[in-house]
Amino acid sequence: MKKLKFSLIGCGRISANHIKALIDNSNMAELISVCDLIKDKAEQRADEYINQAKEKNISLKRPKIFIDYKKMLQEEDIDVCSICTESGYHAEIALNCLTQKKHILIEKPMAMSLPDADMIIREAEKNNVKLSVCYQNRFNPTIQKLRQAIEEGRFGKIIAITARILWNRNKDYYDQAKWRGTWKLDGGCLMNQCTHSIDLLQWMTGDEIETVFGQTGNYLHPYNETEDYGSIIVRFKSRAIGNIEGTVCVYPKNLEETLTIIGEKGTAVIGGLALNKIKVWNFEDQEESLEEVQQKYNSEIPNVYGKGHTPLYNNFIDSIKDDTIPLIDGYEGKKSLDIVLMAYKSQKYSRVIYRNEGLNISTENFKGMF
Ligand SMILES: NC(=O)c1ccc[n+]([C@@H]2O[C@H](COP(=O)([O-])OP(=O)(O)OC[C@H]3O[C@@H](n4cnc5c(N)ncnc54)[C@H](O)[C@@H]3O)[C@@H](O)[C@H]2O)c1
Repeated sequence: MKKLKFSLIGCGRISANHIKALIDNSNMAELISVCDLIKDKAEQRADEYINQAKEKNISLKRPKIFIDYKKMLQEEDIDVCSICTESGYHAEIALNCLTQKKHILIEKPMAMSLPDADMIIREAEKNNVKLSVCYQNRFNPTIQKLRQAIEEGRFGKIIAITARILWNRNKDYYDQAKWRGTWKLDGGCLMNQCTHSIDLLQWMTGDEIETVFGQTGNYLHPYNETEDYGSIIVRFKSRAIGNIEGTVCVYPKNLEETLTIIGEKGTAVIGGLALNKIKVWNFEDQEESLEEVQQKYNSEIPNVYGKGHTPLYNNFIDSIKDDTIPLIDGYEGKKSLDIVLMAYKSQKYSRVIYRNEGLNISTENFKGMF
């Protein structure tokens, strides 16, 4: 099969991981164009792409530079668009790409409301193209191993899953990009930093949500509109309970990101900078020791973004090539968005939110909440 032609829309911080993932998958993909409103940023990513290719002795062309993605869609023969702009612009850009019949890979969160997420899913189906959302931690070897243990029934009945994201983000971080901490373009720490762990928590149960109760607040970031601390209790249909504690207030620096599963016949804790290390691995059928699984599945990562974009691109490329469903399609991508919006609604109305209430709500509805 011919290489898939990718374009990158938005050349900020996370786009560096997309460049690396494209280089790592260069046997199946090539980056033909990059676009950012700020031309220098697009130039920088194009340089990185070509430099990384040279370092690996891969022969690739320098991607073309654009500052207008609609012009790029018209002029270039693109198969896949990777959307890496501020979260609040994802939906509009995604819909424009989909109507041009491009496959799309969207950074998390896929949209700021469920109706927008549903519109993206519908438009992808209508145009017969694939869609995937960047919850790259699902591909961590530790997380894959955990999921396998669940699928094999090794935990027995699952009682609770707890995600703790105890991080620090200070004023310098928010000053770097003014969209962060706004309701229109970002949401708070639950929507931005914690969304990966929330996705993993719900994926591990594979279960439908019945209720969500959320308590959130802004304690230390008065220059932001959104929450810097949130606690969520999710009740699943199986009666399992999900606990989420997420914050960017931890003094003086990042403390931990952990996922803990308490089951009838097993207990596991995954931790590390971004859920890349197994900390506890106790099962009734102790097939392997903690040391053995640590040796096999723990990995080192360069930063909190981890190394998951490379296998995520690989999975998405395969899904296009083989006409299969990618691991994180639109339906999967919207589940953590749903939980966070329900938690925001719960905080706003001080009550439990039921799954079947229908959530015709976007982050912008929470303006002025704190
Ligand atoms: N998967 C992850 O682990 C991860 C990590 C960080 C960020 N993200 C997500 O990635 C997205 C971007 O975050 P970031 O930190 O890279 O942001 P950023 O501010 O560094 O970059 C966003 C870029 O998009 C550009 N842009 C905006 N509108 C555009 C348009 N119409 N056309 C072309 N370019 C446009 C901006 O000029 C900017 O350079 C967010 O949705 C964020 O939640 C995901």
